[in-house]
Amino acid sequence: MKRIGILTAGGDTPALNATIYGAVTRASQMKVEVVGLIKGFNCLFNPRVPHVLLNPLHQTIPELDPTLGGTLLGSSRDFVDPEKKEDLDMVVHRLKRLGIEGLVCIGGDGTLNGLQPLAERLPTVLAPKTIDNDLGLNYPNEPDEFLRVPDPSAKCGYHYQRAESRSVFALDQMVNYVTPGYATAVYVSASAIERVRTTAESHRRIAIVEVMGRHSGYIALGSAYGRPDIILVPEVAVDVEMVAERVKQIYDLQKSVMIVCGEGIIDKDGNELGASGGKDPAGNHQLSGAAEALRSALISLIGDAYFRNYRRGESAKEAIFTRKVGHTQRGGRPVLFDRFCASQLGAKAVDMLLEGRNNATSIIQYNATEGFHVEGFDANHLRDRWGLIHARHMHPEFYDARLMKPSRMGIDYLMPIFSNAIGNDDMEHIRNTLFAPGNLLRPYHSINTDVNKRIRYLMEE
Ligand code: F6P
Repeated sequence: MKRIGILTAGGDTPALNATIYGAVTRASQMKVEVVGLIKGFNCLFNPRVPHVLLNPLHQTIPELDPTLGGTLLGSSRDFVDPEKKEDLDMVVHRLKRLGIEGLVCIGGDGTLNGLQPLAERLPTVLAPKTIDNDLGLNYPNEPDEFLRVPDPSAKCGYHYQRAESRSVFALDQMVNYVTPGYATAVYVSASAIERVRTTAESHRRIAIVEVMGRHSGYIALGSAYGRPDIILVPEVAVDVEMVAERVKQIYDLQKSVMIVCGEGIIDKDGNELGASGGKDPAGNHQLSGAAEALRSALISLIGDAYFRNYRRGESAKEAIFTRKVGHTQRGGRPVLFDRFCASQLGAKAVDMLLEGRNNATSIIQYNATEGFHVEGFDANHLRDRWGLIHARHMHPEFYDARLMKPSRMGIDYLMPIFSNAIGNDDMEHIRNTLFAPGNLLRPYHSINTDVNKRIRYLMEE
């Protein structure tokens, strides 16, 4: 292969440029050109196919900075519908017009789900990314546990259910231990919790901090590093009465409580507390109100009199507040661990294409003897018997539902990722750049402005 394409699809993460950087560096070593496709699959629906050559003469362009958050290529949640054969043919035709012989998609489970029909037309591999850390398997045969249950109320006539697992869970059996973007999202969430904590303490308040992750509780689990009192994850139904009792116990002792909830938490009937009713372009449920729903429940269960008796405010409404960490989790400079994983996964994806692999993904594996290392993995091994890839849920053994905190196994899972996740340069970067006088003098200069100067278009046919 002499020329490959690369794109970033789905929600961004702080480590996308690091993945692109790893891919481009490896490709240049192998004398392969890399064409960056602008705004994910969106670019391929545009007859002019906006694109950028990322390594002219096999030299990486200076705009590609692995320490910069976001993606210099831009991203979108557009995807190629596998049912629409004409769209697929058109997309591949446009890639071929660009001289692209293989494609690296940097994406999550949604992107991987759409990979197979593309891979039948052009060699295509994935380099994983997602702050949610939900791309991978808890154990290799996990996809076999999915069952289709007839459901007349569902649009497709069935819903998925999980058969009881027959696997013994072990950390070194996980497939894709961690995804780039996760460590930075946890770093931001844990830091936010530490900051909200001190103000909740001063004002005798109960804070509920909502973190992202959709139906997967990894970010909430990792936020334990910020030492919240209670962590609620989507994988374990919330017993609000039990939470209210725990809140009162802790409040009695320390006059403030810090709760973290994943945006996808569910009640005892399995309903998402935060469901907004809307869907994004890729069909994912939009989750926006988990912390608020929990706050309302706690307000009515604890009541105003409780706070008045303590002379700590007039009402429960006044005492209980919510904050979302929101998109700050997804932005900014990636921490060292994410840069390390991302660049290796990007490089591995290129190697896989050059080795003739197709419909496969690079993954990060971990075990105590080898540490973190990359491997290639056939995408079909992530698919259930009907060919669907499901988002990985946090394994229940990682969470202690009684303590509402990570279990011993959860702690063992987190430690290899986070013990050295922050590099000295990450802290030095803050010291050198945040209060630099130039920040006050010069307007912000966007990477998009520079990349724009390099964008090329195909002549319309
Ligand atoms: O999948 C990544 C993610 O950041 C989720 O954690 C979150 O629910 C969602 O994307 C938010 O999407 P958007 O950027 O479209 O608001």
